[in-house]
Amino acid sequence: MAEIEIFGGGTLRGELSVQGSKNAVLPMMAAAVLNRGVTVIEHVPDIQDVRCMMEILCFLGCQCTLDRNGRMTIDAGTLSGSCIRKEDMEKMRSSVILLGPLLARQGKACIYYPGGCMIGKRPIDLHLKALRQFGAIIEEDETTGQVTASASGKDGSLSGAVVELPYPSVGATENAVFAAVAAEGESFLSGCAREPEVAALCHMLNRMGARIFGIGTSRLRITGGLPLHGCTVRAEGDRIAAGTYLIAAAAAGGEIEISGICSGELSSLTSLLEEGGAVLYREPRRIYLRQDRPFRRICVKTGPYPDFPTDLQSPLLALMSVSGGGLVEETVFESRFKTAQELNKMGASVTVLGQRAEIKEGRCLRGCRVRACDLRGGAALVTAGLTAEGRTLVEQSEYISRGYEDICRDLSRLGGKLRYCGTDT
Ligand code: UD1
Repeated sequence: MAEIEIFGGGTLRGELSVQGSKNAVLPMMAAAVLNRGVTVIEHVPDIQDVRCMMEILCFLGCQCTLDRNGRMTIDAGTLSGSCIRKEDMEKMRSSVILLGPLLARQGKACIYYPGGCMIGKRPIDLHLKALRQFGAIIEEDETTGQVTASASGKDGSLSGAVVELPYPSVGATENAVFAAVAAEGESFLSGCAREPEVAALCHMLNRMGARIFGIGTSRLRITGGLPLHGCTVRAEGDRIAAGTYLIAAAAAGGEIEISGICSGELSSLTSLLEEGGAVLYREPRRIYLRQDRPFRRICVKTGPYPDFPTDLQSPLLALMSVSGGGLVEETVFESRFKTAQELNKMGASVTVLGQRAEIKEGRCLRGCRVRACDLRGGAALVTAGLTAEGRTLVEQSEYISRGYEDICRDLSRLGGKLRYCGTDT
């Protein structure tokens, strides 16, 4: 079991250029399946989820490499399979975004209900409902968890559709976009997720020859069936990793500068940090934060972009635990408060009631042994450890490696005292 050891109590100071975005790269890797040639993605983070996606692509017959400079090459000319193994699907939820591309390219696909972090039920009904609109015939076997999809067109093709998503699911939007790009004719998608990663995917597909209009809005018009070709695309900096480090600095105090991100994508966080008393300066591609006085009580509600990201809710809970407290309402994933219990072991006073968590007052935390329950919850415990008195050990830190390339390297650069230990590292 991998662990992270943290010696808390110091402030954070320094500059950091952030890793490439996990949530942008994974759908870009799926998009490469639509191209019968070579696709190059730059600024790819070397994280577990990316490695897992590479394994799946290789299993399907693609050739996929990632070099030390974060340059990934995917040759999908040799794609031969259309089925993803159950054990691979269970390793990561994002594997479900291969459903649309496989269906489009092979005329059929077979997957299993996906796994990933245990932060809620995470069904895929919206993905399946959207794909059915394009003419996919989908069968689900609830006992085995197997989902098979086949295109109903004569030659295994999909047809353009009008799709209204009842909730702006990021993954369902991405699968609908993949299907629409491949389908014959025009498609109109509404109720789409507006996350920057969805926009980045659409821009990439347009560079591959697709015609998507309305990028960045909830309504997309897509002319499908056009021939696609390869492209070289660079992933944006990871706004969630950047946000985690800004929150860590607000919690530990100090002065940091994060570069390599689109600062506008973090507006919901930066305005909240300013409300709490942090001093921030923003430029288009960098954010400076200084925290030299106690952070005030804040209230926040998570929601689809541009609202506050659910992925930063756990790190924020850690900040609130050591500052003026506050109220958090989680509207996206129903089981995202598991970290509260671990924070309380360190001396925090988080009370969870349904989808709300309240921290009446900030406390001084004491280092102890805690356990990461999911990716972002793990990052939250590292944040808490940086502020705590003494030594904190975060168990099951392999969850953190699913999304952060090297959280110890990054926070050490900012002056944090932490390192990997345990049997796996
Ligand atoms: C993506 C992000 C994840 C982030 C989440 C919400 C990637 C790789 N992951 O995940 O980091 O936390 O967006 O911003 O981009 N839902 C359904 N039925 C469905 C699909 C979703 O009910 O078919 C529900 C989910 O249970 C959840 C909500 O919709 O309550 C949001 O999920 P969704 O936007 O789909 O998240 P992901 O794409 O899985």
